Amino acid sequence: MPSAKEDRPAGHRQIVRFSFYRVDSAWRALPPEERDSHKHQFCRAVESFGERLQVRIYSLVGTRGDADLLLWQIADRLDDLQSLATAVMKTEMAPYLSLPYSYLAMTRRSVYVSGEEGRARTVLHPTKSAYLFVYPFVKTRDWYQLPLDERQAMMDQHIAIGRKYPSVKLNTTYSFGLDDQEFVVSFETDEPADFLDLVMELREARSSLFTLRDTPAFTCIAMPLREALDAIGGVEQPLQTERYEAPSGASPGGASNGRPSTGSEPFLAAHVADVPEGGCALVYHEGEQIAIFNSGGRFFAVGNRCSHANGPLADGKLEGSTVVCSYHGSRFDLATGVPLSGPASRPLAAFNVIPEDGRIYLQRRAPQAAARGPATG
Ligand code: FES
Repeated sequence: MPSAKEDRPAGHRQIVRFSFYRVDSAWRALPPEERDSHKHQFCRAVESFGERLQVRIYSLVGTRGDADLLLWQIADRLDDLQSLATAVMKTEMAPYLSLPYSYLAMTRRSVYVSGEEGRARTVLHPTKSAYLFVYPFVKTRDWYQLPLDERQAMMDQHIAIGRKYPSVKLNTTYSFGLDDQEFVVSFETDEPADFLDLVMELREARSSLFTLRDTPAFTCIAMPLREALDAIGGVEQPLQTERYEAPSGASPGGASNGRPSTGSEPFLAAHVADVPEGGCALVYHEGEQIAIFNSGGRFFAVGNRCSHANGPLADGKLEGSTVVCSYHGSRFDLATGVPLSGPASRPLAAFNVIPEDGRIYLQRRAPQAAARGPATG
């Protein structure tokens, strides 16, 4: 979520909260319209704080059994965190929400990192990476009794190991006296394997002897709030169950991409009127978000989540038969889902589009090769 508060001078201290929500299973049994209204209210409540604090959204569906959603909030004032929590609790979804984990912390200069690098740590700059790994952290009291130069030597080793993994960005925040833990550490990366290797290697560092507690650990997947809520509650799309019946002896009329000889069965996804020219409509099929684009009367459909770091392609820039991701600028060929320029390197799910009698049928294309196509300016 964009925020007006991303450019703070070094030295400015921020207050940070990691709120892990869980949604009661009874919520999933509510009628779809009611859940949809709840999701809308939740999104509006969070988005209304976009000018006051940064909020990054992560799903834990599929990674943990005891939490579904993380709101990572970065504020200048403690009161703004309280106001956001109040706004969420005023939604009609609130009776179904619990908060099994909540961690409060602040930024500060590191004791062990000097110069500009240490000062810069007082302001967080989330990177829109695909994954976030979070855990609260407590050191033994013996650690604090060691001479500073001894601690510095151990932290130098610790920091040197971290620098071997440039794909993993560490955010250290401090909770002394604010909350039960001493630190909350969060790691942003697009490469979970690099994070795992880093943590394993850090176990061999001497400083690890002074770790008292570093659990629970949370593996979080970045995504837009609406999609994270959909992941919790499922989505009904009545149209999606209708099968496409090709007229006898005829190929599907008006198909902009043609019907392939391979792929899955076509399904009804939307009506032509749902997809404005130059615009996009989001539909759901078997739990997947699909973005249908209308570029000058030609229809294209791809998976909505960017293959680089889950950016919503429906919010991207439509340029001819390509879309440019709003997060980091990857460009994709909409007909095939293949990335034409990075940082994305993996193709999107792509669909053949079959307009028929004012309806849009989609048919999943066979997966494309992972190799990136030629760049297009
Ligand atoms: S999320 Fe990074 S380019 Fe799309």
